[in-house]
Amino acid sequence: MTNQNHLNLFIKHQLNQLQLFLQGIVDNQTFSNLFPKIEKRLLALKNPNGERFVSAYSKLPDIKTNLFDSKSPAIQIGTDQPLSETKKELLKQSLKGLIPWRKGPYDVCGITIDSEWQSNMKWQRLEGFLPEIQDRTVLDIGCSSGYYMYKLLSYNPKWVIGIDPSQLFVFQFAALQKYAAQTKLAYFPIGLEEFDWQARGINVIFCMGILYHQRSPVDALKKIKSLLAKKGTLILETMIIPGDDDLALFPKDRYAKMRNVYFFPTVKALTNWCYRAGFKDIEVIDISETTTQEQRETEWFTGESLVDFLDPKDPNQTVEGYPAPRRVIMKVQ
Ligand SMILES: C[S@@+](CC[C@H](N)C(=O)[O-])C[C@H]1O[C@@H](n2cnc3c(N)ncnc32)[C@H](O)[C@@H]1O
Repeated sequence: MTNQNHLNLFIKHQLNQLQLFLQGIVDNQTFSNLFPKIEKRLLALKNPNGERFVSAYSKLPDIKTNLFDSKSPAIQIGTDQPLSETKKELLKQSLKGLIPWRKGPYDVCGITIDSEWQSNMKWQRLEGFLPEIQDRTVLDIGCSSGYYMYKLLSYNPKWVIGIDPSQLFVFQFAALQKYAAQTKLAYFPIGLEEFDWQARGINVIFCMGILYHQRSPVDALKKIKSLLAKKGTLILETMIIPGDDDLALFPKDRYAKMRNVYFFPTVKALTNWCYRAGFKDIEVIDISETTTQEQRETEWFTGESLVDFLDPKDPNQTVEGYPAPRRVIMKVQ
């Protein structure tokens, strides 16, 4: 079968799955607003990158998995049956075909995906402050490969939807789901702007690592507020600058070599944005500087990482001379 055929089948399968999932949880109005956007994004996978990714995806070996555990730092997806070395190698090479793995770690049938980010460290900082998740509906904005979606399963949510417009992460999540098969989870390959939700408000929304990519962070927060249920909770995580004033840094071009970034507020300015967006209750859970233990180059992420974004003579600054990355986590209602 050609990669083009594999891709057509992949898209068809994803469309069928997402249609069934959505129809099971929303009214017709929400379905007919949202589904065409998902469809459009999935059809846009028909390009050379999509063919490259599906080529790796379609080589993933069939393995009967029966183990899933998301409590340990690496999400465990596996089988109690021994795997042949040939199958294990094929699994490893196919997963490697979906590099770069930014978020993780995962352990898939004995293969450890040691991603660029140790996402378990962020999870550890926020886990003790989670709102009620049991039987609640959850949206993860910018879900990447789905690490936090899997983490949330140990709290027994009603369902978790992850949205992310990246084409690669569609395939990473699909690869993980081929073995994890967690039916409470769905990945929509769309951005926050496209997420059109007329259904009942969502109980818990995660917005982590997104706000600095937004041209208008207050509008993004307003949109999130409109998606939340009346007593819903937002877990908000973003990069900040030090200081006590009502200020935000707006980099000339890049920040820590990142393009498409706009505002880096102080905690106070971020709090002001939340109030302006209509939130009333804001609790700072954590402030941490990002370390080269949490974000680094690995076998599964080759390329520049945090160490290359910092001034070699002064790691308290980025290469552009801005304050080094630090992040806040807030619980917002
Ligand atoms: C810095 S990563 C954060 C990933 C994860 N939420 C975390 O905290 O580790 C940002 C993610 O947001 C996605 N993203 C960028 N713009 C977005 C948008 N407008 N709506 C939803 N996701 C977006 C990117 O593709 C990327 O996966």
